[in-house]
Amino acid sequence: MAETSTATKRYAVVTGANKGIGLEICRQLTSHGIVVVLTARDEKRGLEAVQKMKDSGISDDLVVFHQLDVVDPDSIASLVEFVKTKFGKLDILVNNAAISGVVLNADAFQRAFELSGCWPDGEEVWNEIETQSFELAEQCIKTNYYGNIPNGRVKGLLNDVESLTGDRIDEILKEFLKDFKEGLLKTKGWPTQLSAYTVAKAAMNAYTRILAKRYPNFHANCVSPGYCKTDLSTNTGYFTAAEGAEGAVRLALLPDGGPSGFCFLQKEMLTYF
Ligand SMILES: NC(=O)c1ccc[n+]([C@@H]2O[C@H](COP(=O)([O-])OP(=O)(O)OC[C@H]3O[C@@H](n4cnc5c(N)ncnc54)[C@H](OP(=O)(O)O)[C@@H]3O)[C@@H](O)[C@H]2O)c1
Repeated sequence: MAETSTATKRYAVVTGANKGIGLEICRQLTSHGIVVVLTARDEKRGLEAVQKMKDSGISDDLVVFHQLDVVDPDSIASLVEFVKTKFGKLDILVNNAAISGVVLNADAFQRAFELSGCWPDGEEVWNEIETQSFELAEQCIKTNYYGNIPNGRVKGLLNDVESLTGDRIDEILKEFLKDFKEGLLKTKGWPTQLSAYTVAKAAMNAYTRILAKRYPNFHANCVSPGYCKTDLSTNTGYFTAAEGAEGAVRLALLPDGGPSGFCFLQKEMLTYF
């Protein structure tokens, strides 16, 4: 979410930025002179990532580390206090942190990708690639709640942005977890592969549209980086993490009057809603 600010110095927070696309978003933002708070849930991994950026020539003034576990309210409060005290404002927030919500069998994932040359498809294939559990699904809903493309039941439930509220999204997520626990995903028409991941991202898309309506002076958008080679995809995919980062950086740098409340696939605006 980027504030349409006229101040010259701009500040960004990127979540889950110790590796993958988040780290590349940090790099690219600093190349535009933006001061980046690189956050990570694990302090050691976060500090190492900051060091990596500095070793690649990024100035000390442009990157700073702060711990952030997006599911820990104390950690969030501590980051807010840090930003307020140190910078007095925040121009850009990139909600990048996410987990898959399943146990992935990396060998099966890579085999499926090599065989098909694209994102694996089909129930049997996914039965080999992933093992789902209620605990991971719950953790995934908590962690992600951002940025995927709704389908089936989810699309129907989350499509009506005019009447949608944060409370309604909470109800939908509770309903999903209840159905997950009771083994009713298929019967009730929820996504059956990467279920919690897909539902959480759809919910985050919907919430983004609520934010865009509520805060017309902000740009609030979602972007899918495309299928990128990172740990999340067991390093399968078409794009590098750096290529995946480009869409988020473009949205973070939108000028006043740019789009808000939309979902993008890389640089392309989607029309699913
Ligand atoms: N790769 C793809 O093909 C693809 C496709 C579509 C969308 N995306 C989205 O792109 C974003 C970045 O994914 P990626 O591919 O770069 O994945 P990644 O390499 O697995 O990185 C995920 C990051 O999120 C962090 N994270 C997880 N739980 C967290 C928590 N509770 N608090 C703070 N940070 C947490 C991880 O930290 P740890 O290192 O501590 O685990 C890691 O830094 C995600 O939102 C993902 O859903 C990726």
